Amino acid sequence: MHIRLHPSILAADFVNLESELARIDGADAVHVDVMDNHFVPAIIFGAQMVGRIAQVSPIPLDVHLMIENPDLHAVTYADMGAQSVTFHVEAAKDSHAIISALHEAGSLAGVALKPGTALEPYYELFHEVDTVLLMTVEPGAGGQSFMPEMMPKLEALAGYLKDHGLTPLVEVDGGITTTTLPIALRSGANTFVAGSSVYGSGEPNFNIEALRACAH
Ligand code: DX5
Ligand code: ZN
Repeated sequence: MHIRLHPSILAADFVNLESELARIDGADAVHVDVMDNHFVPAIIFGAQMVGRIAQVSPIPLDVHLMIENPDLHAVTYADMGAQSVTFHVEAAKDSHAIISALHEAGSLAGVALKPGTALEPYYELFHEVDTVLLMTVEPGAGGQSFMPEMMPKLEALAGYLKDHGLTPLVEVDGGITTTTLPIALRSGANTFVAGSSVYGSGEPNFNIEALRACAH
């Protein structure tokens, strides 16, 4: 089955980012996690950094904002050259306005939900976005274990989208490996973020192909 793979450069070597990006040129996009030390404890990759990454990356940028006040900041990342900007509904004051602003800035727009966040209050947004990202770990760090208990939520999302003829990307993020990818795929995901399992050991492009190969 055709899937999209978005390696996370959170697991890359930060002092060699340009060559680390070249090592994942077989992927569909690079997932860039932005953390602000407020929405999550960690801090990484500000807008200038993302802009420079966009300039040298051989593949498009899928920016995942784990920040407070995306209402103020999301468009900056679109302006920096991200193909897609995904923000957390838990942090947004006016998600509709952010989605419109991203579209006006020429970017795709996505919404992300933490593991404990219910789908139901956000159904309306799924009609407007290009990506729905369900976290399969608590946001904030790479290298955590996949939460299989998120699969019923993923199935409910996939069911809602199908019933309404909606086709945003259904992206899962956290703990994706050759073991867990097929589980999430069967539950309705079509886009997979993978940090540790791509950069952790061996050759990243080879690891990407190994992940693609288990998508059935
Ligand atoms: C977690 C980040 C993820 C992370 C995934 O907060 O949003 O994108 O980089 O890393 P792995 O694949 O190692 O779980
Ligand atoms: Zn992420």
